[in-house]
Amino acid sequence: MEKIVVKGGYKLSGEVNIDTAKNSVLPIIAASILCGDRCCIKNSPRLEDVNVICNLLRSMKADIEFDGNDIYINTRNMVPIEPNKELVGKMRASFFIMGPMLARFRRFKTALPGGCNIGSRPIDLHLKGLAALGATITQGHGYVEATAPKLKGNRVYLDFPSVGATENILMAAIFAEGETIIENAAAEPEIEDLAAFINYMGGKIIGAGTDTINIIGVNSLHGTTHTPIYDRIEAGTFMVAAAITRSKIKINGVKQEHLKPVVAKLKECGVIMETTDNGIIVNATEELCPVDIKTMPYPGFPTDMQAQMMSLMCTVPGTSLITETVFENRFMHASELKRMGANIKIDGRIAIVEGIEKLSGAEVKASDLRAGAALILAGLAADGITTVNDIYHLDRGYVEIEKKLKKLGAEIKRTI
Ligand code: UD1
Repeated sequence: MEKIVVKGGYKLSGEVNIDTAKNSVLPIIAASILCGDRCCIKNSPRLEDVNVICNLLRSMKADIEFDGNDIYINTRNMVPIEPNKELVGKMRASFFIMGPMLARFRRFKTALPGGCNIGSRPIDLHLKGLAALGATITQGHGYVEATAPKLKGNRVYLDFPSVGATENILMAAIFAEGETIIENAAAEPEIEDLAAFINYMGGKIIGAGTDTINIIGVNSLHGTTHTPIYDRIEAGTFMVAAAITRSKIKINGVKQEHLKPVVAKLKECGVIMETTDNGIIVNATEELCPVDIKTMPYPGFPTDMQAQMMSLMCTVPGTSLITETVFENRFMHASELKRMGANIKIDGRIAIVEGIEKLSGAEVKASDLRAGAALILAGLAADGITTVNDIYHLDRGYVEIEKKLKKLGAEIKRTI
């Protein structure tokens, strides 16, 4: 199995280009089902999760071709057969196909999705929303089936602003009769991007990116071309790479307004941030101080940056409290960081981190995607060699992270 080996202690310098957002591209590919036409997704990141969702659509007879980083998807000949179960089990985002398949074919059955190891990750909010639009839901033996001879617009209040549920309900509502209003919707930039893509196809979605989204049902959509937004979590990860190595780097492809809480926390920590035309210069050459972090739905501090910030806090002398409110089991990286000498105590959803002078390189395991990134970051700052195992998690969400870090001056390689 492949692993990433990092020799710590090297400063970073230069520039890094951020890819487009996995969390935008996945629902956008799912939304292409809606139009039954040809779409082009420009400049998509070449990631394992993108391959998985493309293969899922192919298993239902979509025609998909890659031309470099552009993906051409023709969903005209798709059929509502059960998608490949093994592929569905590979990632949580495979459930994104439920909303558009139900909207287009009025009946869809799929195995339950898989995904990262960070919590129980139920789909009750997705199903509640689909039921509110008139779908009949049946579940059993690891499968879920939704049928709806006719979908009708309705008011859907989400008990929690779930990203996936917001996206699924939004897609399901596209051809529903009348208007659907999603209240307490997730407001992540990737939802705004998905709505922009659907609106380019002829949809009528208003308010995506806020907590109230109105979807006015339309009769049909047409193909379009779309370039997804940059990946704010990849950008944030490189910001922390600069901070943890006390370096100065330029990150191209950051929309600062998408990263407000991460930028604010890094500034509070002592990192100097300078905006450029296309990105940001991150300068962490001054002394840093510990900060407290609490993850929240957007526009709060993203849970997808919690692990990386924990690595940083492990290297900043003093105490910081990290509170995880979005997922119930998202501290698995803490025990791996402890192998590297980190001083972390977990009390329920709170991690108490006592920063130390130097982490020490060790053999560790990536328990999930962002945990893997956090361990690589820790390795950049640690004394000696860190070997990160189970890096297939990383390949789901970062395009060649080790090559990008190497170009910035890190001593890092992928081996078997
Ligand atoms: C998306 C992101 C993921 C990110 C997460 C939170 C994608 C592909 N993935 O995941 O990177 O970490 O948002 O920002 O966009 N919940 C329920 N019932 C549901 C759905 C969710 O209780 O039906 C709970 C989850 O268990 C979790 C919380 O809501 O505790 C947030 O989950 P959600 O926002 O749905 O995350 P995802 O869409 O799975």
